[in-house]
Formats: sequence, structure tokens, C-alpha cells
Amino acid sequence: MAKKGYFITFEGADGCGKTTQSKLVQKYLEDRGYNTVWTREPGSIGLGQKIRELLLHYDGDVAPRCEAFLFLADRSQNIENLVKPAIQQGKIVICDRHTDSTIAYQGYGRGENIEQLEYLNNLATGGMKPDLTFVFDVSTDIAMTRVGKEKDRMESAGIEFHKKVRNGYLEIAKQETDRVKVINANNSIEQVFEDTKRILDEFLN
Ligand code: TMP
Repeated sequence: MAKKGYFITFEGADGCGKTTQSKLVQKYLEDRGYNTVWTREPGSIGLGQKIRELLLHYDGDVAPRCEAFLFLADRSQNIENLVKPAIQQGKIVICDRHTDSTIAYQGYGRGENIEQLEYLNNLATGGMKPDLTFVFDVSTDIAMTRVGKEKDRMESAGIEFHKKVRNGYLEIAKQETDRVKVINANNSIEQVFEDTKRILDEFLN
């Protein structure tokens, strides 16, 4: 059983396979006796689910800054109601997307000011930071075929936007090599999971 709670985030462009990997990791940890909680942003529980619905399916105009604030609002709710209490109970929190998504999508993708977004991220989380972050890096062409034809509002933002997002993640990883680990997600689910486990085991040991 984990003595100390950890906060592990799963990041990457749409179609990178992070949700699948986050669930595999949860099972892997539970099988080893760790207490875990899986959550996601946007839309973990309650109000967050309503915000997710707006962000992904509202079909009118959404100003980029409004979009950023909605993601941030969801984040503060997730941190306060779910992440912090679980960490305090010594659990490992597995979070499917978190602050780096805002930097990659709203910053690098939409062109909002990155320093300001970092400040707002910090405000939304109360300064809480992930202990470990996986970035699943996949070529934009492969990612788009994985996403398929039925796209939500964010997935419909176009290939150029998604290339900028991918690039954004790689920039973040360069800047924070201790926390952020890049995994080649062009590979099979099994191979990606092997690579993820190796880093996870090193981290936990
Ligand atoms: P997903 O949960 O299926 O990955 O979808 C969430 C979408 O929201 C995805 O396109 C990434 C996007 N997103 C942002 O643009 N900014 C954020 O801060 C977060 C958390 C997600």
C-alpha cells in the first residue's frame, strides 16, 4: 500500500491513447496493492461533467479566453473535490489531462499568452503540481485517424491546430525533464504500456 499519495497525469494530443494507458496503469497499480483514484479533466464529477459538455459539445461561438476559463474552472473543482482529498488519504491519483493540456491547447494551439495561462493554472490548482506526467506523443496523421469521423468541438479544430498542440507538449517536456516523460505512442498499445510501466516503476521505486 502506498504510504504517500502521488499525483500522476496523462497528457497528449487527441487520439494519442492516453485514456487507455491511464486505465491500464490504474489496474497495474491496484493489482500491486496501491489505492488509486482515476479522474479526468474536463469533467470528473458533478459540475465538471456539465462544464465538459459545454466545452466539447456547445455548437455556438466560444471565445478562446472563455474556453480557457472553463477548463480552469473545471480544474479547480476537480482539484478541490477529488484530487486533494485523495492525495491526503495516501492514494495515487491518476488524472487524464491536467494543466499541461491548457498550455498545449489554449497556449500553443490557440495562441493565448503562456505565462498568463501558467499563472491561471497555478491559481486553479492552488499551487498543486503533478509528481509525474506522461506525454503520449503521436504523429498528428495517426492521431487523426484514431479520432475517427465523429469529432467533438476540440477535435474539429483542424490538423494545423493539432500539430501546434503536439509541438506544445514537446516544448513542455523539454522544459520540465524531471516531471514530464515522453512516450512514443505511435507504437502498439502493449508496447506503449511496457514503456509507461518502466518509467512508472522507476518513479515508485
Ligand atoms: P478528452 O477528455 O477526450 O481528451 O477531451 C478533452 C478535450 O479538451 C481535448 O480535445 C483536449 C481539450 N482540453 C483543452 O483544450 N484544455 C484543457 O485544459 C483540457 C483539460 C482539455
